[in-house]
Amino acid sequence: MDKIIIEGGRKLKGDVTISGSKNAALPIIAATLLTDKECIIDNVPFLKDVEVMNKLINILGGKVEFEKNKLCINNKEINKFKAPYELLKTMRAGVYVMGALLGRYKKFEVALPGGCVIGERPINLHINGFKKLGAKINIEHGYVKARAKKLRGTEIYLDVVSVGATINIMMASVLAEGVTIIKNAACEPHVVDLGNFLNKIGARISGLGTREIIIEGVQKLNGGNYKIISDYIEAGTFMVAAGITNSKITLQNAPIGDLEAVEDKLKKAGCRIDKKENEITIYGVDRPNGVDIETLPYPGFPTDMQAQWTAFMSISSGTSVIRETIWEKRFMHVPELNRMGADILVKGNTAIVKGVKNLSGAQVMVSDLRAGASLVLAGLRATGKTEISRVYHLDRGYEKIEEKLEKLGARIKRSKENR
Ligand code: UD1
Repeated sequence: MDKIIIEGGRKLKGDVTISGSKNAALPIIAATLLTDKECIIDNVPFLKDVEVMNKLINILGGKVEFEKNKLCINNKEINKFKAPYELLKTMRAGVYVMGALLGRYKKFEVALPGGCVIGERPINLHINGFKKLGAKINIEHGYVKARAKKLRGTEIYLDVVSVGATINIMMASVLAEGVTIIKNAACEPHVVDLGNFLNKIGARISGLGTREIIIEGVQKLNGGNYKIISDYIEAGTFMVAAGITNSKITLQNAPIGDLEAVEDKLKKAGCRIDKKENEITIYGVDRPNGVDIETLPYPGFPTDMQAQWTAFMSISSGTSVIRETIWEKRFMHVPELNRMGADILVKGNTAIVKGVKNLSGAQVMVSDLRAGASLVLAGLRATGKTEISRVYHLDRGYEKIEEKLEKLGARIKRSKENR
């Protein structure tokens, strides 16, 4: 297992190119199962999760070639419909093959992924949606099994805004008979990107980016070329990197317009942000103002930026309140940040962060992807050496993170962990 070692306390400087969105790439790869024609997907980040999703497509009988961030997928000969636990337990986005297989083949058998370190992660809304479209569902031996004679469009209301359920229901209904309306749908940029991809290959989806998505079923989908959007969470993470190290960083290939909630909070913290075309430049501060956040579905402050924001607020000149409303257990980074000298108290779904003057490098451990990002950010700011273990979590979602930070002037390196 690799470790990341950071000699902190240095300013960063320069440009960083933002990769394609992981959270868009994974459902789009799954969505290629809906067509027997070739799809070429560009700007795909080279990440562990993408590798696992490609493997899943292979297991189902699809052909995948992945070179230089370009994926060529041909799912003409899908001959298996079972997604095994071994893959699903490492990559939850594997559940997206449910919607795609149900849509095209009217059946699937997919392992229930179970909970994870950030929360319980139920899929009841996905299953209710499939049932409303006409599928029969059984849960047996840890697998969800579905079969349908025919899928018929209908109105589906989501009790809570769910990215996963919106994605799965959208995929299951593109080839259904008639019109499906998803109410209280998620409008995250990656949900929109999936919809745009499906429309590009022949689907008829409208209302993307709003709380009501309308899907008019079509008989068949085509193939085609598609370029994935930039990753707004990676972009937000680099913006906080500039904030926390009091540096000037320019993001290239930046997701303009997708990050407004984070930009607003960064400005309140005292950072300056300049934007033009695909470029965002951010200027950090020595000690940010304390700024409260509450995580919410898009366009609210993303849960995937909460851990990074908590790290930033740990060196603020005031006190800030962080409320996590999406994943109840998502504060595993807090004890690690406290080991670096932060003063953070967690009560239920709220963290109270009293800003300290500085952090000091320490040995810390990553519990999940975004917690990993927050520890890297803290390590960049801290005086001395920070040793971060279990960085495989980071490799799930950040493409070449240490290379990108090194290019910005960070002293960061990867080493093999002694076992
Ligand atoms: C969620 C985040 C997404 C983030 C991802 C990984 C939201 C709305 N979604 O997406 O931005 O990238 O985690 O951190 O911010 N729920 C149910 N039943 C279901 C499905 C979900 O009750 O069938 C609840 C969950 O417990 C959760 C909320 O709905 O509290 C949002 O879950 P959902 O959006 O489905 O999760 P992800 O798709 O993993």
